[in-house]
Amino acid sequence: MDKPKVVLGVSGGIAAYKACELLRRFTESGHEVRVVPTASALHFVGAATWSALSGNPVSTEVWDDVHEVPHVRIGQHADLVVVAPATADMLAKAAHGLADDLLTNTLLTARCPVVFAPAMHTEMWEHPATQENVATLRRRGAVVVEPAVGRLTGVDTGKGRLPDPGEIFEVCRRVLARGVREPDLAGRHVVVSAGGTREPLDPVRFLGNRSSGKQGYALARTAAARGARVTLLSANPSLPDPAGVDVVRVGTAVELREAVLRAAADADAVVMAAAVADFRPAAYATGKIKKKDGQEPAPIALVRNPDILAEISGNRSRPEQVVVGFAAETDDVLANGRAKLKRKGCDLLVVNEVGERKTFGAEENEAVVLAADGSETPVPYGPKEDLAETVWDLVAARLA
Ligand SMILES: Cc1cc2nc3c(=O)[nH]c(=O)nc-3n(C[C@H](O)[C@H](O)[C@H](O)COP(=O)(O)O)c2cc1C
Repeated sequence: MDKPKVVLGVSGGIAAYKACELLRRFTESGHEVRVVPTASALHFVGAATWSALSGNPVSTEVWDDVHEVPHVRIGQHADLVVVAPATADMLAKAAHGLADDLLTNTLLTARCPVVFAPAMHTEMWEHPATQENVATLRRRGAVVVEPAVGRLTGVDTGKGRLPDPGEIFEVCRRVLARGVREPDLAGRHVVVSAGGTREPLDPVRFLGNRSSGKQGYALARTAAARGARVTLLSANPSLPDPAGVDVVRVGTAVELREAVLRAAADADAVVMAAAVADFRPAAYATGKIKKKDGQEPAPIALVRNPDILAEISGNRSRPEQVVVGFAAETDDVLANGRAKLKRKGCDLLVVNEVGERKTFGAEENEAVVLAADGSETPVPYGPKEDLAETVWDLVAARLA
């Protein structure tokens, strides 16, 4: 099979160096990459780097290798064009159809999906000119990844940072696999919880669980790609922030409850994918619990944690809000799932069996989504993003 052909456009922002990592991810996962930098981008990272890492010639102008008509061919033959970083200038040129260098010509000749990953100072990003250009590009079907919040050039911080290259790669991989989807969650606010809560015993120990957060992060990433404003309540995973998602960090079940109630106030959907501890230690020792010679340790008394899923299902902040729970089961999986759906009062319950290559920590999952109306949607073994897409399909149908 031919390798997928990716054009990596790089425009002249300080984050151009991060595109080297993005390039490596593409080449190492079997993509053929042609890098098309702008002249400004070469002030930041030289042509030799792009050429050596991609194994292909690099040019910024339409006037090189004219017999091959590169200003037309590169775009026509691409399966995906991704511009990372995309400067304010590049977004403006793309929105208005300018074609004064090789990258802007390529953007006009490409008939494949196009992804822009903007990066710039907050003022440039928030300027109405940039916002209108982004809206124009999105309306025409381009995927424009929301910039991250964080450290910018110099001492400034704010929105405008290029998302982690691994996250841009994930967006591109999905767009290549599925094409550009209708943004059917545009204008919706969704809340997703992910990871596993930790219940402290003393300053160095906690009771936790094996949740990696990967399913919740897949839900957040796919909802953002479908146009939603996403609040991700993240309990202790060690994963990079998904692009274009507001991440709120929580530790314990009690903290998660507070964060869910706050975020759910104006949410259209709440998806509780986090593994929430049912119990927590009754007492917290402010000093480290020590071994004592000749003595067995004292038993750990536990108290119940709040049942967040039942609480938000029973007290919806908006009548049309859709609430989704998760159940990881080891025995009588479906029977336990059906009983849990009734008990909790949520609209959908994703039931998965705890197993070797699925659920906790794995990249893949397999589940049945049970609905309060009695319907059941099996999701075959596959990437956690496939399960996430099915959940959003079911949520979007209920919101519509
Ligand atoms: C040090 C430095 C850093 C810059 N960083 C950015 C940036 O992050 N985002 C941006 O939109 N422009 C940035 N610019 C401005 C662009 O380089 C400038 O608008 C240029 O015309 C962009 O050209 P291009 O879009 O053809 O690459 C920076 C300029 C300098 C000198």
